[in-house]
Amino acid sequence: MSKRIPTPSSTKEPLKFLVALDFGTTFSAMAWAQSTKHERQEVIQSWGAGKTGEKVPTVLQYDENKSPGSGASRWGFEADSEDDESGIRYEWFKLGLYPRLDETGLMKLYPPKTPKVNEAEAKKLVIDYLSALKMNFEQVMRNRYRAAILDGTPTEYIITVPAIWTDKSKNLTRDCAVRAGMGSKHQIQIIKEPEAAGIYALDCMADIDLEAGDTFVVCDAGGGTVDLISYTVKSLDPPILTEAAEGSGGLCGGSFLNRIFADFLDKKFRRYPPFDESLKRHALKVFETSIKRWYVGTPDKSYPITVRGLPDNAQLGIWRERLEITGQDLREIFEPVVTEIVNLVKSQITATRKKVKSVLLAGGFGESEYLRTVLSKALEPDGILVHHILNSNTAIVRGALIRGLTRMNKQLPYARSEGRIATRSYGTPKYVKFDRMKGHDEAKRVGGGFIEIMHWFIQQGKSVDEARPIPVQLTARKEVGSKPFDPMVIRVFSHEDHTGLQATEDMVDDPNVKELVTLTANLDMIPQHNWYRERDADGGESDVVDFDISMTLNSASLLSFKLVHAGVNDDNEEAVEAEFK
Ligand SMILES: Nc1ncnc2c1ncn2[C@@H]1O[C@H](COP(=O)(O)OP(=O)(O)OP(=O)(O)O)[C@@H](O)[C@H]1O
Ligand SMILES: [Mg+2]
Repeated sequence: MSKRIPTPSSTKEPLKFLVALDFGTTFSAMAWAQSTKHERQEVIQSWGAGKTGEKVPTVLQYDENKSPGSGASRWGFEADSEDDESGIRYEWFKLGLYPRLDETGLMKLYPPKTPKVNEAEAKKLVIDYLSALKMNFEQVMRNRYRAAILDGTPTEYIITVPAIWTDKSKNLTRDCAVRAGMGSKHQIQIIKEPEAAGIYALDCMADIDLEAGDTFVVCDAGGGTVDLISYTVKSLDPPILTEAAEGSGGLCGGSFLNRIFADFLDKKFRRYPPFDESLKRHALKVFETSIKRWYVGTPDKSYPITVRGLPDNAQLGIWRERLEITGQDLREIFEPVVTEIVNLVKSQITATRKKVKSVLLAGGFGESEYLRTVLSKALEPDGILVHHILNSNTAIVRGALIRGLTRMNKQLPYARSEGRIATRSYGTPKYVKFDRMKGHDEAKRVGGGFIEIMHWFIQQGKSVDEARPIPVQLTARKEVGSKPFDPMVIRVFSHEDHTGLQATEDMVDDPNVKELVTLTANLDMIPQHNWYRERDADGGESDVVDFDISMTLNSASLLSFKLVHAGVNDDNEEAVEAEFK
């Protein structure tokens, strides 16, 4: 993938397979590499039943005797067939993990036509789909390697998630991957989709003319979501990116064009029964596979769709069994989607407080020349150029694989990103000694001379280094001699503000502070001799232990947690359990 001359493969790396998965709303992609031959990075092309392509439809189909959660009857290309109307087909179920944006904007105007799924159903569908992808990958491997090599060689997955998703949704995606057998929660890496695209873009910098110090916006225009993020090139040798502004985005991806087109057909043929469901299905297929990809904005060009058996009808634009879709029709179909994307890109540029040199388009819809042209025109007055990232459609999966490789071996010569801007503040309530000099409010003083404050360990807008976990110091108390120790519950909250308001100590019970995750720390794991006795302000005594929860904002901007005592990491995964809200 890289244009640079690759360094020789490391022989020191233990043999394993790294598999990147871009699980998309409408299409998914996978790429893989062997740890000992990192320069040979391959995008999966084979999706079972003789179907090939660099992406596979994110579609499932269940026959009547099957239901979500028990494995789908068909998936991918087979489930997406225009002619097969048997069973129930599910599309767009990825968004069931992120139910928040359902009722707004384009999603409200053009809701999906396939059954709407709640979170529990979406989980089952995602698990079934990821299981199918995993099995397909294993088949691809079996066709390539001898069983003796495959058996016992570990496989590590890197999964991409939309940057704008909540922690809960990102975590749900990882949970589903665990249930699909892709590894444990701690083995599966997750990375933000536009970050993966940014990494891949920098890796191909020769094509997009980036220099150290340049800042660019990545616009990942997918099927469902459009995700944006800003990066500055910290250096080219080694190639390193740093986040220049937190991400933003919305639900205005390329699939809305299909829904708007379906609406257009419904209106046009409302009083014309010969245009039946099967002709409509065919028209939608042609729109998806050809028209939307070919349209470049030319108003006087029209695009034909075969409509077998329909007589000529000048008013409806039917001539010799061909329905003509005009450039003007297409302009109107594209307009609401493209306008929303232009607005998102402009807001992201404003939020990036550095001079933005270019906007780089990734994702399937990011390949659209019409989208690039409209964005170019809108940004021309500011001198900002708009480019497609090379291999835009698979940039995300390729970047995610690069990220897996550089995480495995920091010496590899590929692009990487470091330092991400926190999109919200993270904090936990904490009791501290009451101190009037610190402005503590007498009315909030509680027994024993303590006061509850919010300790914000990550502030929104600040750069956070993934390699440097943030320790949050905590103290647990129990009645003298009592045993065993109940697990300690720590509630982590977040605060998000776009008016420049900082999260402050006195925000306990503030309605804008939302509970994010509940941690349960199993303090039993701390040896007894580390407990010490302390006299309380009211004369009693308690057994006390000090410990840290170390918080890491990983590459998907999702918090992960570890119990640390006396500076020693407790690697037991059970030491802290996290339940996202
Ligand atoms: N050349 C093209 N021109 C216009 N649209 C395209 C082109 N190629 C693909 N698309 C559209 O891009 C969308 C799929 O993009 P992509 O595969 O990046 O989305 P996704 O990953 O499924 O969605 P998301 O990232 O929102 O979860 C589809 O709507 C598809 O029709
Ligand atoms: Mg995508």
